[in-house]
Amino acid sequence: MKLVCVILAAGIGKRMNSSIPKVLHTLCGKPMLQHVLNAVEKLKPEKKIIVVGKRYDEITRAVSGSLISYVLQKIPKGTGDALLKAVGALDNFKGTILVLNGDAPLVTADTVKSFLSLSEKNGDAVSVLSFTAENPGAYGRIIRDTSGYALQIIEEKDATREQKKVKEVNSGIYAIRSEALNLLSRIKLNRAKGEYYLTDLFEIAVKRNAKTGVYCLGSEEEMMGINTRRELLTAEKVMQQKIIDALIEGGVKCIDPASTYVHSGVKIGADTLLYPNVYLEGDTGIGRGCTIYPNVRITEGTIGNNVTIKDSSVIENSIVKQNAQIGPFAHLRPGSFIGSNAKIGNFVEVKKSSIGNGTKASHLSYIGDAVVGKDVNIGAGTITCNYDGKQKNKTEIHDGVFIGSDTQLIAPVKVGKGAYVGAGSTITEDVPPGALAIGRGKQRNIRNWARKRRANISSLVAEVSSRRRD
Ligand code: UD1
Ligand code: CA
Repeated sequence: MKLVCVILAAGIGKRMNSSIPKVLHTLCGKPMLQHVLNAVEKLKPEKKIIVVGKRYDEITRAVSGSLISYVLQKIPKGTGDALLKAVGALDNFKGTILVLNGDAPLVTADTVKSFLSLSEKNGDAVSVLSFTAENPGAYGRIIRDTSGYALQIIEEKDATREQKKVKEVNSGIYAIRSEALNLLSRIKLNRAKGEYYLTDLFEIAVKRNAKTGVYCLGSEEEMMGINTRRELLTAEKVMQQKIIDALIEGGVKCIDPASTYVHSGVKIGADTLLYPNVYLEGDTGIGRGCTIYPNVRITEGTIGNNVTIKDSSVIENSIVKQNAQIGPFAHLRPGSFIGSNAKIGNFVEVKKSSIGNGTKASHLSYIGDAVVGKDVNIGAGTITCNYDGKQKNKTEIHDGVFIGSDTQLIAPVKVGKGAYVGAGSTITEDVPPGALAIGRGKQRNIRNWARKRRANISSLVAEVSSRRRD
């Protein structure tokens, strides 16, 4: 069966009360339109047409996928008008047009596949995917005659009190044969709402004795259309639960699913342990056997196997190799690379730097714009002074170096292989390999200073009291 998908995404989404176009509101890190696109991708259509409104640019920038073309519906005159706008982009395509709403992000490819095969088997010109809603709310009602034959879809606003009680509702997913597309022009303006309803197409097809079908598939949860922020919240919870369930299924241990937030698309290996209040965002991948302690956020991180990330650490757009240890209270800023068996400990910030295998920065340091070799020891309180007020400068620390505590490395500067830097040094010049660099004031011991100070104080006191007596 030849297939083209049309996603309707031009509505203004008034009910969201937001300046963001409705279909760009995110669930588990991705715009709802992207979720619909991802589901549709699995059906391998020849083409995906997205109908967008005035916010064209924002939408095209925010979503991605293959074989997508965009069609503009300048004024949102209803779902019927939106599909009509897409017809031009079909280029006389012959086959099935699958229509979906861009605001129903939980739809799965499996349900749509079953729907398409039922529709094909029945030879329908127009078919509708319906579902049973406990609370049919604002959904269009499927109206059947006494023999069960579906006659029309009535929007809630236009429904009688009896019709409102119907629990079988329209999902907004339709399969339309290309030969039936000419019926679109017969949809009349709904005066009450000033819109052309795509739902009217069904009744038009029935009245013209075209073959039609309504297939009740999928759950209320899956078919959910999002019109309000409250509904978005509900949908996000559902999706989050599904993501966590799939991870657990794959061997991840999650102590408290209710407080674990994992974006859609994040990959985690088996035997990794997630403590409560962990946030894994964007395109993040975590290896096997890792432990992620409470209050950790990883955004766009690539974490190897058996890595330990201790409490309250933040990792952004960085790579951490196997067996490394991060935190507690560490911050890996974008562009950081942490080698295997390395340790980035308490209150250490790393920015755009590479840290070699087995290197340790265990306490209170800032490492920015640096290349640090392997097996280096970076003492507590070490700072790379990378910014001179105008530009960022590089620090190079070669393999096996020992940097004493409280060292400032004034970049650009290099510390050669195997060199030592004495604690408390301010390093302004390159250190040759194997050398010891000490850059600090020489210590002076003043003998008996304390006794003299005490004597000075008592003579001062004596002087003041003798003046008072005078
Ligand atoms: C629609 C259906 C309703 C169904 C429900 C399922 C109609 C008239 N009603 O109602 O029967 O139960 O979906 O969720 O179709 N859009 C455009 N251009 C427009 C108007 C809307 O592209 O001019 C897009 C929207 O961006 C949205 C989709 O079409 O993605 C549905 O529009 P919406 O206004 O949300 O329709 P509902 O009232 O939810
Ligand atoms: Ca909707």
